[in-house]
Amino acid sequence: MFDIHAHVLPNILHDDGPKHLEKSLEMIERARKDGVSAIVATPHMMIPVENRKEEIKKAIQSLGELPIPIYIGSEIFADDIVLANDNSLIPLGDSNYLLIEFPRAELPQHVDEIFFVLQTKGFECIFAHPERNGSIINDPNLLVELIRKGVLCQVNAGSILGSYGKTCQKTAQILLEHNMVHFIASDMHSPNRLYYSLKEAVAQAQEYTDSASDMVLKNPQTILNNGFLEVSEPKQYKKRGFWFFGRR
Ligand SMILES: [Fe+2]
Repeated sequence: MFDIHAHVLPNILHDDGPKHLEKSLEMIERARKDGVSAIVATPHMMIPVENRKEEIKKAIQSLGELPIPIYIGSEIFADDIVLANDNSLIPLGDSNYLLIEFPRAELPQHVDEIFFVLQTKGFECIFAHPERNGSIINDPNLLVELIRKGVLCQVNAGSILGSYGKTCQKTAQILLEHNMVHFIASDMHSPNRLYYSLKEAVAQAQEYTDSASDMVLKNPQTILNNGFLEVSEPKQYKKRGFWFFGRR
């Protein structure tokens, strides 16, 4: 399996991953034991930082010989100042794919435009953990148009497993059932509390979709090779109505 979203590098500015190298190594070992064969390190890019790419490369080198490869990447906060700075747009591996995160509470009004501008710069965009975003929780169908416009979606293993609560879990299930998920990733931050098993998440996701294993195998492999990912048409989610039974 490939994990395309992980805060695995030690002591990176503005990131909330491990503080010490030993913890990074523990996380990598835990992922390897879970069946992960390559990890993309995606420290948060919250504000533009000079020489960010070099900082990430050095942090990867500091880990020494590793049992599985770690690729350079970034989780880019969709802030106008960050996005306007070309040095902030660090893709996953050697690809043109960017991992983009939004404020947790709600999507900005100009979300379409944000993706469009990045696409016109030659990037492909992956929306990080939409199931944790308030706007998507309220209306999963917001993703239908974005996916039709070429945006891909990455759901967290922990969301599928219920680690962020019932609402996120239910939203992850809805997205999986409606062809609105293209990747499952760990979004791990530490070796203990915040590691959620990709293997367990895929097993759970298989209850909702036939393409769960593609989300950790074929799809991430395709984008890390900078290939074009063909996706299924997303399905509109219809909220189920409630039946009220009056007393006789
Ligand atoms: Fe993250």
